[in-house]
Amino acid sequence: MSSLHVQPVTASIGANVDGVDLREPLSDADRKAILEALFEHHVLFFRNQDITPEQQVAFAKQFGPISFPPFSPKYGDDPEYIVLDQTSPRGEGADQWHSDNTFMAEPPMGSILHAVKIPEVGGDTCFASAVAAYEALSPPIQRLIDGLTAVHDITKPLRKGIEAGHAEVDLAEMQAKWPPVEHPVVRTHPVSGKKALFVNRNSTTHIVGLSEAENEALLPMLMDHIRSPEFQCRFTWDTHSVAFWDNRTTQHFAVPDYRTRRIMNRVTIAGEKVV
Ligand code: OGA
Ligand code: MN
Repeated sequence: MSSLHVQPVTASIGANVDGVDLREPLSDADRKAILEALFEHHVLFFRNQDITPEQQVAFAKQFGPISFPPFSPKYGDDPEYIVLDQTSPRGEGADQWHSDNTFMAEPPMGSILHAVKIPEVGGDTCFASAVAAYEALSPPIQRLIDGLTAVHDITKPLRKGIEAGHAEVDLAEMQAKWPPVEHPVVRTHPVSGKKALFVNRNSTTHIVGLSEAENEALLPMLMDHIRSPEFQCRFTWDTHSVAFWDNRTTQHFAVPDYRTRRIMNRVTIAGEKVV
């Protein structure tokens, strides 16, 4: 039997989980309970989990192989995890609603973020349910977007990163390695079968088959729809808090309202083709 205790944060998204030690291998029952909670609540929060990067990687691997992010401000000693070490976060890319690395043909299943050092004040992360966002659209708009696909392009976030001095990579080389990809605008979760809105400001450039004017009207409406507080929860980190989000049904926003150092270790789990 699982020892997990799952307390929802809102009816749309988020749950606090206790009764588990992330340093230890999970029992089958706990692993199953975590996945069930993740698919139900989209993002899980754990407190007081003083884990090493190796333990964080081992925890992640119980849910799938590691995804190596194509670019990162800083890799850990081991490329299986990256370190977000920031003191002036504004414009660094995470301060915009997004799901991670949707420019990949198989975007990540999820990510696990561990707070190593938190700032004196600020530095919360907001999460939004793309399922709740889809379900709140009117039936005519749902029908309109159900069969559409959109292009996601690594050069969109990368150009910004290079301009801001956060990414030191060769744009042409990255472009060749990660050509633009097409994903459904509405994706179906591979396990829960829930439908989720899957366009985001970081990487989505346009909806396929629409005129420029139609794209200009429809795409910002869909990308901004996620910003309504009714689809969201907000997490205030403590040192050694851990968040585990399903990247297929959520977007997140790192609030850039701190001025002292914030260090997070991130491990990303590989995903699948978007359907
Ligand atoms: C990320 C991310 C949010 C944060 O790790 O992908 O967007 O609050 N982080 O650091
Ligand atoms: Mn992110």
